[in-house]
Order: sequence, then C-alpha cells, then structure tokens
Amino acid sequence: MGMKSMDELALHGGQPVRTKPWVSKYLGSEEVGAEEKDRVLQVLNKKRIFRYLPAAIETSECSALEEEYKAFLGTKYALGVNSGTSALICALVAAGVGPGDEVLLPAYTWVGSAAAITLVGAVPVLCEIDSSLTLDPNDMAKKVTAHTKAVLVVHMRGISADMDAIIAVAQERGIRVIEDVAQANGGTYRGRMLGSIGDLGCFSLQQSKVITAGEGGMLVTQGEELWQRAVLYHDGAGYQFRFTERKIPAFPGQNYRLTELQAALCLGQLGKLPAILERTKANKQQLVHALRQVSGIELSPVFGTERDLGVSLIFYVKDGTSAHWVSRALTAEGIPAFHVYDPQEKDQHIYTNWEFLVGKRDPWGGSYPWSLHPAREMDYSQDSCPRSLGLLNRAVQIHLNHLATEEDRKDILAAIRKVTAHLGSRR
Ligand SMILES: Cc1ncc(COP(=O)(O)O)c(C=O)c1O
Repeated sequence: MGMKSMDELALHGGQPVRTKPWVSKYLGSEEVGAEEKDRVLQVLNKKRIFRYLPAAIETSECSALEEEYKAFLGTKYALGVNSGTSALICALVAAGVGPGDEVLLPAYTWVGSAAAITLVGAVPVLCEIDSSLTLDPNDMAKKVTAHTKAVLVVHMRGISADMDAIIAVAQERGIRVIEDVAQANGGTYRGRMLGSIGDLGCFSLQQSKVITAGEGGMLVTQGEELWQRAVLYHDGAGYQFRFTERKIPAFPGQNYRLTELQAALCLGQLGKLPAILERTKANKQQLVHALRQVSGIELSPVFGTERDLGVSLIFYVKDGTSAHWVSRALTAEGIPAFHVYDPQEKDQHIYTNWEFLVGKRDPWGGSYPWSLHPAREMDYSQDSCPRSLGLLNRAVQIHLNHLATEEDRKDILAAIRKVTAHLGSRR
C-alpha cells in the first residue's frame, strides 16, 4: 500500500494505525496470580468463609483488610462491605443523612451515587462539573440550601476533585463531606490519600476498579461515632461484638457484609496497587505532555498531574458532532474511543440517563423522597446542568491501563494526530 492509504482515514477505507487489540480496561484483575490464589485457597482450607466467628473476630481476613486500608490511607477506622454502593449508603447513614435532607453530587458519576442518596430518603441535588470532570466548587456553593446535609464528592475517572475548595465551602456551610473514591483507589490530592480527606471515604472493589475482589467495598473515616453508625448499618446485629465501647444507640441495619473470600482476594491485590498506579500515572503524564501539542483538542490543566491516576484518557474537541466523529474515526484506526455524552446512548454515568431521578420515581410506584416536600422544586432536566452536558458532549474517552506500552502510546498519539488532522475537512 502506498503513502496515500496510510494518510487516508481508516473510516474512509485507509489503512488503520493499529490492527492488534487495544489494551483491556481492567487493571487489578489483569494481575490476579499466585498471591491471590494462595490467599483464597487458605480461606477454603480453613473453612472459614464468614468473617464474624465470635471466637476469632480479630483474626479474619476482613479485619486484616481493614487494618491494611487504615494503614494505607492513614485513617483511624475502616469497614469492609460488599459493594461501593453499600459503602455509600453506610456513609450517608453514618453522616446522619436521611428523610428531608438534600445531598449535593456531581452531574457526572455512576448512577449508584445518586441511587444511594435516595435510598436513605434524601434528595439528590445536581452540581455542575468543570473540565477536570469533577464537582465544580463554585456551583456547589450556589446549590447549598438550609436543607443540605452533605456533599458526595466523586473522584471521577481517576481524577481527584478539588478537595481544598470543596472542604472550604462545606466548612463554611456546615455540611458533611463524603468522598466517592470508587474510581480513584490509591489516588492523592496534595499529598493526602483520597478517602481520608472528607468525613468519610467510600471505595468499590468491583472488577473495573483499580484493584478488585469481583465485588466489594470499603468505608474509611477518622470519626469513631461515624464508624460505629456505619458498622451498625452494614450489619444489624454485628455491632454487639465489634465495639469496645459503644457510643451510639441501636437502630436497624442491613446485611452488607464482606466475605472472607473477597477480603483474601483483595489482600492479594492491595500489594500490587502501587506498582499499577506508578505505571498508569507515568503513562498518562507522557501522553498528556504529547497531546498538549496537538491542535484541535483540549485538556484540563489537571490531566497528567498528581490529581490524575491515568486510568482513562479524556480530551475535548470543538463540539458534540466533532466528538462523535472523532470517536468513530479513532475506533476505525484501531483505538476504541467513546463519545462521553452521546444523547443517543444511555450511559449511566450521565445524569440525564438516570431514569428514576429524572422521573423522580421510587421502587414502589410513588415518588419518595421527593413526595415528602412537594413545594421544593428539584430540577433534573437537560437545563439543570447545561455546562456539564456541554463539556461531556465535547469529550472523547479512551480506556487506559497499566499494561500500555511505549508502542501503545505511539499508536494512540499517531491515531489522534491523524484523526484530528482531518477534523476540519471531515465527512
Ligand atoms: C463513581 C462510582 N460510585 C459508586 C460505584 C458503585 O460501586 P459498586 O459497583 O461496587 O456498588 C461505582 C462503580 O460501580 C462508581 O464508579
């Protein structure tokens, strides 16, 4: 094939930049090996799969995982739970959030963050994100009302939210800060571990996260009473034997307990986390450095800095039609790319696709918790967060993981340069 077909877009029949498969979107699960297998087998050999055996509570794998997380994050308390969603629900209950309260959250996060808020009887209040893909502290300040009890800050796509600004607003207005670290496990903000900065931090150990137990979650906090309330809500009976001194009255709890198998698997993964992140961060820094020279695309100043774990590459182009076209053209070049907010798709990270929220629907055919306060207006329409939708509509996403090599970086850059060079004359 001659030069012409190399220059011609694969979308139009030219030769693609890459023919071998792109790197997987998984991180920790790609590294599952002897460490995890040995630990899981030990659990099976011991025949102790449930954490709360009264005779040996402190020797469980779950306790060991909680100890490791406390040491890793520098928090006084940790609680293993069975998912990121249940960690959020426990954190909200721990923070005293309930019926009649409002909780702020970004317009761009997993649907589970919004669902957790309504499941404790509180009303989600959407805030704009900025180009960092995380909560805009200025918009957050505007959305606080007399009913606001907490803000659910999401470190989205491995990017730390602007915690100093968010905490300043929260302190001024007297509201709790809950960090959703599901997508940024192991990340830092100005040297502090994510999850340890707000009142409570919540992690997911589901497979697409940095490290995984298939399913699972972790809640961390510095507050003893917050932790006790979370412990009680995660297990309606377990509180009887977990506290040396009980600080809280009883209330009903769920069963969000983690199993010994999941904890053992995760203990095997935790040791691998620093090496995974060292590679994703270095990779992303180099990519961002090169991409800042490419005309036709924009990057947030935060991308490629300490605040970016490098688990995803997102860049902005001029408008939604361009983003849609660039995604298709890159995919044709052998680099699978996604139009982040494509109004034709139903991606559950975009608030307009959270059907229950837009329709204010509960599981029982009614409209709880909104029905508690019919006079309070709550807008979830396209017009409620236009800046976020505008940004995400201009955004193109490519999955990255720690296994991306120099050759992969070269391919991604070559494909982006090739596609953006045709942006002006696209058809
Ligand atoms: C930002 C965010 N929050 C919460 C969750 C919920 O975690 P889980 O799936 O473990 O319940 C996820 C991931 O699924 C997420 O990405």
